[in-house]
Amino acid sequence: MHSRIIVASALAVLPAALATSWDVSVGPNGQFIFYPEYVLAEVGDTVNMIFHPKNHSVTQSSFDAPCVPLAGGFNSGFQAVASDSDPTLPNFVITVNDTNPIWVHCEQKGHCGAGMVFAINPPDATSNHSFAAFQALAIELNGTQTSELPAVSTPPAQSWSIATATVTSDSSTWVSTYTSYIGTPEPTYAPSPVTHNITVGVNGQLAFGPSNISASIGDIVSFTFLAKNHSVVQSSFSEPCKPLNNGFNLGFQPVAANTTGPTFSITINDTTPIWGYCAQTSPVSHCGSGMVFSINAVESGPNNFAAFLALAESTLVNSTIASSNSTSSAASPSSTGKGSSGAIPSFRLGGVTALVGVVAAVMLML
Ligand SMILES: *[C@@H]1O[C@H](CO)[C@@H](O)[C@H](O)[C@H]1NC(C)=O
Ligand SMILES: *[C@@H]1O[C@H](CO)[C@@H](O)[C@H](O)[C@H]1NC(C)=O
Ligand SMILES: *[C@@H]1O[C@H](CO)[C@@H](O)[C@H](O)[C@H]1NC(C)=O
Ligand SMILES: *[C@@H]1O[C@H](CO)[C@@H](O)[C@H](O)[C@H]1NC(C)=O
Ligand SMILES: *[C@@H]1O[C@H](CO)[C@@H](O)[C@H](O)[C@H]1NC(C)=O
Ligand SMILES: *[C@@H]1O[C@H](CO)[C@@H](O)[C@H](O)[C@H]1NC(C)=O
Ligand SMILES: *[C@@H]1O[C@H](CO)[C@@H](O)[C@H](O)[C@H]1NC(C)=O
Ligand SMILES: *[C@@H]1O[C@H](CO)[C@@H](O)[C@H](O)[C@H]1NC(C)=O
Ligand SMILES: *[C@@H]1O[C@H](CO)[C@@H](O)[C@H](O)[C@H]1NC(C)=O
Ligand SMILES: *[C@@H]1O[C@H](CO)[C@@H](O)[C@H](O)[C@H]1NC(C)=O
Ligand SMILES: *[C@@H]1O[C@H](CO)[C@@H](O)[C@H](O)[C@H]1NC(C)=O
Repeated sequence: MHSRIIVASALAVLPAALATSWDVSVGPNGQFIFYPEYVLAEVGDTVNMIFHPKNHSVTQSSFDAPCVPLAGGFNSGFQAVASDSDPTLPNFVITVNDTNPIWVHCEQKGHCGAGMVFAINPPDATSNHSFAAFQALAIELNGTQTSELPAVSTPPAQSWSIATATVTSDSSTWVSTYTSYIGTPEPTYAPSPVTHNITVGVNGQLAFGPSNISASIGDIVSFTFLAKNHSVVQSSFSEPCKPLNNGFNLGFQPVAANTTGPTFSITINDTTPIWGYCAQTSPVSHCGSGMVFSINAVESGPNNFAAFLALAESTLVNSTIASSNSTSSAASPSSTGKGSSGAIPSFRLGGVTALVGVVAAVMLML
């Protein structure tokens, strides 16, 4: 009886004393957003900012200068995260000491101007200091600073050649004709072709696993689709998220959660690098989120897998700015990202892309 009274009185006190801890995702799904975009918190509450892949920050600013650190304000510093499967994603905790609005942005170049801002206790939507007004101001003031988008290197076009190699294995001799980029290793025809397995949507991520492989002429690459609705489409180095003319396209393969979908195979006919991506764009561009792969990328040269991935991810920056602009009534008419093209390569690979896939290896048994 006595203990029951204690429990009852403790409960009566709890609601006032118990602070809430709010979880907020920083850059979920490769998007330049905080989710949720704001919270309404009580004094004593904490807001736990959890960092997702890319390299973001949680930096206090002010309503009038959304993308400029507030003097004396808090700042998590940059938190680079490689993968959502990292066992512990970094976090940063904000303690709410009063009910005044707290304005926050990501300090990474280009992100705040793309609308990556957050607030605690913003005035409601009817106010000229609402969250939407804050975000619109961020895009208006910093959205045209396209030179501050993440720098993407502009590797030179690769040169290529047609060559032949003679390969001897046991009693057989093979002559292989192939296209090759400068820097590719001497091709080897695998006497016993190897099957390389690539998982499409590995660990529920927007990723291929592995995303970057080497394969010999005659090898098979098998793509196995896991849950979600992915595709595998061949592209080119310079346009990671656009289908290559006459390239392969395995189509969209919707797969139920926790089941294994179909497997498709391609045969490697030459040592030309093969680039590819997932063409799903709903609800977010999978390619722009980094869901790309390479086969036989020349890692020692500028057109390596990391450069390809960076180019693919730069398309998401572009589309985010375009869509932020279109949904923001406060964005100034000039905030259309003009001038950003300077950071993005526009070269074409000459006739090479047209030749790839036409020049197949010719295997002659002598
Ligand atoms: C994160 O971004 C900052 C600012 O751009 C940069 O200085 C830092 O090197 C980056 N960290 C990593 C690991 O890329
Ligand atoms: C709340 O007060 C604590 C202790 O003084 C301080 O560390 C924290 O930065 C304050 N929170 C904000 C949002 O300023
Ligand atoms: C936003 O623009 C201001 C003024 O040009 C600049 O000082 C600031 O660094 C920019 N912020 C970001 C996050 O790019
Ligand atoms: C915003 O609203 C306040 C009153 O709520 C007003 O004093 C202020 O002038 C308004 N600011 C602008 C830029 O309209
Ligand atoms: C790919 O999967 C097949 C069938 O599961 C297996 O026989 C083969 O060894 C795998 N290849 C590699 C390189 O692991
Ligand atoms: C899979 O995605 C494609 C492209 O977004 C879409 O057209 C198709 O309807 C989707 N299929 C299912 C079953 O959701
Ligand atoms: C898939 O598996 C996970 C972990 O085993 C489980 O939490 C989840 O509910 C499953 N989803 C479905 C749709 O069965
Ligand atoms: C691609 O694979 C090579 C080795 O196969 C490795 O050295 C390189 O770091 C990989 N690149 C990326 C971006 O994972
Ligand atoms: C950006 O917004 C301006 C003004 O709201 C509009 O005129 C322009 O067409 C928009 N651009 C894009 C790419 O949505
Ligand atoms: C980025 O946007 C600019 C201007 O809108 C455009 O010229 C450029 O080609 C785009 N880059 C990519 C990789 O889509
Ligand atoms: C290899 O050649 C075969 C037969 O011509 C063709 O069906 C296949 O698509 C080629 N593989 C690639 C990756 O282009």
